[in-house]
Amino acid sequence: MGGWYVGGGWKFYLRVGERWFLLRLMRLNLNKGVTGRLALFGAFAIFSGEWGICAEVVNVYSHRHYEVDQKVNALFTEKTGIEVKVVNADADQLIERLKAEGANSPADVLVTVDAGRMQRAKGEGLLQAVDSAVLKESTPEGLGDEEGFWFPYTLRARVILVAKDRVKEGEIANYEDLADVKWRGRLLIRSSSSSYNQSLLASVIAANGEEAAEKWAKGVVGNFARPPQGGDRDQIKAVAAGLADVCVSNTYYLGLLLGSPDPAERKAGESVRVIFPNAGGRGTHCNVSAAGVTKHAKHVEAAKAYLEFLVSPEVQRLLALGSHEHPIGMDLTVNPLHGKWGEFKVDRETFGKMGEKQGEAVRIFDEVGWK
Ligand SMILES: [Fe+2]
Repeated sequence: MGGWYVGGGWKFYLRVGERWFLLRLMRLNLNKGVTGRLALFGAFAIFSGEWGICAEVVNVYSHRHYEVDQKVNALFTEKTGIEVKVVNADADQLIERLKAEGANSPADVLVTVDAGRMQRAKGEGLLQAVDSAVLKESTPEGLGDEEGFWFPYTLRARVILVAKDRVKEGEIANYEDLADVKWRGRLLIRSSSSSYNQSLLASVIAANGEEAAEKWAKGVVGNFARPPQGGDRDQIKAVAAGLADVCVSNTYYLGLLLGSPDPAERKAGESVRVIFPNAGGRGTHCNVSAAGVTKHAKHVEAAKAYLEFLVSPEVQRLLALGSHEHPIGMDLTVNPLHGKWGEFKVDRETFGKMGEKQGEAVRIFDEVGWK
């Protein structure tokens, strides 16, 4: 990467083949006390192993692992000339890495799929507040960070799915019902190591208290049709195969099955019905994909532009169709599946407590033997 410091001046973008380069008309400090003015300037630097002109970049530490993200990042580069460099890992690992790297971290943006993790990253002092009218406006009431340390950009509902042919309408309505002995040997849900389940239990703790939450988790474990294994899609497939009648999954995994090129996966998706739990009460537990600018970001403006890009209508559309996540503004018209599943009430009551209750959730999981 080139070693030129840019303190101000004009910017020019130059496209060479598939790549964008940034040129800057700038002031160059030649020596102490001597300032020279330079005209149009191209910094030749070693960049990506080639000699080229110094390009702007935003470094993203991301937990997300979806194909559509590459499309989104390529589109950002096409529109802004800013290259997106991604480091993929589990959110907990990324948080540890940010802590270890401190001020030397190359990361500009942290992306996770869990509000609880973002709340923790903020609490650990790993993020900085961003002042953006665009991001403020795109954040639904109660589903972001009031101080602007991170912003949600997709919504992910964690729902109950039932076998259409074996569970009647109205037989199950709430998360609390999952602990009912009626479902003994008929229930599937993935392991407690998943942040999706940690946040789900955190929300149950926030809603019903620790004691009730532990009782609930014990009841759920007692109803397992098999020890937890695989991801959300595997639970749906197992219900389709008759191994259980009820499972818990994020809606977008059902979308991915229904949109799969594999007919067997589509058939599995067709065999279940979506129930948005707690519709008559606090609402359905939802998590978010969220992004924040890191405390020690070296490319703050590029990072802010990247966050604003994620909530743009174009990207919201790409994500709704590509990964089947709900757009953050809950527009149900983009993806026909969202329209079909219909409107639902989002649990905003417990959303802000996910981070603080996650530790307790992990303790309860251990206590009740939820593997
Ligand atoms: Fe996921």
